[in-house]
This record gives sequence, C-alpha cells and structure tokens, in this order.
Amino acid sequence: MMLNRSKNGKYHRFDSSQRRIPTLTRKPYVDMQALTRRLRRQVMVGTEHIEMIPAPDNEIWSAEVNGTPVEVLAPSNAVLLDVLRDKVGTLGVKRGCDLGTCGCCTVMIDGQPRLSCLCLAGQVEGAEITTVEGLANGAHLAPIQACFGEYGGSQCGFCTPGFLISAQALLNENDSPTDQEIACAIDGNLCRCTGYQQIIDSIQGAAAIHRGEVEARAPASDPHPDPHPEGPEEPNMPPGHAR
Ligand code: FES
Ligand code: FES
Repeated sequence: MMLNRSKNGKYHRFDSSQRRIPTLTRKPYVDMQALTRRLRRQVMVGTEHIEMIPAPDNEIWSAEVNGTPVEVLAPSNAVLLDVLRDKVGTLGVKRGCDLGTCGCCTVMIDGQPRLSCLCLAGQVEGAEITTVEGLANGAHLAPIQACFGEYGGSQCGFCTPGFLISAQALLNENDSPTDQEIACAIDGNLCRCTGYQQIIDSIQGAAAIHRGEVEARAPASDPHPDPHPEGPEEPNMPPGHAR
C-alpha cells in the first residue's frame, strides 16, 4: 500500500495489486482504411516500376570495327557509344553531351558519319564501323590527323575524334571541298577550344594531300604503342560507365 498524488493535488491510497493497466488490455486504435490505402499504393508503385524497366537480355553483337570483325556480349537495348567504349574498347569515341548535340561521339557507319550516342547497337549489327582509331594507316597518322596537329585544329582534343571522322567522311567523297562545304560537314561538331578556322584549314590541308598536291609529312618520331591493346581493363563494365 502506498500514497499516490492525484491531479487535484490530494493524496489517496493506491494498491498496486489492484492497478489497472488500460494500455495493455485495450486494443490499440488502428485506422484500417488508411493502412489499406497505403499498402495498395505501395504495391501499385512497385508493380509499375517492375513493368516499366525490364532487365534487358544480353545478346551477341557483331560488326566490323576498324576492319576487324568483333563479337561482344551486350544488352539488347545498348547504345552504340556504350558498346564501342565499354565492350569493344575503342575509347577514342568520346561521350560529350549524350544528347546528339556535340558530335564528340561521331563514328563512320558504312562510310557515313553518325552519332553513336543516338544509335542503338542493334540497329547497326553487321555494319562497317570506323572510329578514330581506324583512321591511321598502321603506325602512320592519316593526313587529316597530321594536319590537325600541323594547323592547330586541336587543343584539348576532346572534340577532335568527332571532327576527324566527319572530315574524313567528307574527304572520302570530295577531295576538293570549299570552305562552305567543310562548314556544312562539321556543323554538327562543337569545339570550345579551337577557332573553327584552324579546323577548316586542317581539313583543306588534308584535302591537298588527298589530291596529291602536297606530300604527307613523315612522322616526326616513332609511333607510341597503343596503351590499351586489349581494350578496356574491365570488359564487362556496364554500359554508360564512362571513364
Ligand atoms: S555525345 Fe553524341 S552528340 Fe554529344
Ligand atoms: S579542342 Fe577542345 S573542345 Fe575542341
């Protein structure tokens, strides 16, 4: 038996053996309707999420890249840019905007310059693809590459692979382009370092070599070995994982 103080300040006897514990004996109030609504919403969200993003199957993708037949395992919905960089190992193909606006990812597909960030690999299955690695003739730079160096057409170089491919595609069809035709050919390629005039001069210089009016310069030094002869170190890196 003990004294307990009530709210009004008076003391009264309190027998702990007769004490009621209402919170444990009463059922807790649960708003079943609210709970059901919440659960239903979670299930619906979960179901939609699973339906909208099904896991893509891996499939064998084959093409001829820079004159070499390649076969790689890639998701069926993979973008060509990802397959070239992450599976084939042609890291010269650059990811700039990933939106089709900068031209850094340009590659030649069956002789035509195309944006690899806007192209599904499955669409070009079996095609002939040329990346910047495929322009050089063995250890010797292609005229367009040598001229970019000579005329200052490249500074940071990030946009350069795309420019080189667009320019080479033009020169393959027209070895006497006007400045206007060159400007049209490279109007999908953006450069934020070099003035475009140096790039146009580089392409005109390469065109003169193609026409045989100027001799291509001999390489100034022995070529450097390919730093990635086996392709990327992690060949199974997921697409989109740019380095
Ligand atoms: S990365 Fe393809 S256009 Fe920019
Ligand atoms: S050389 Fe740097 S963006 Fe073109």
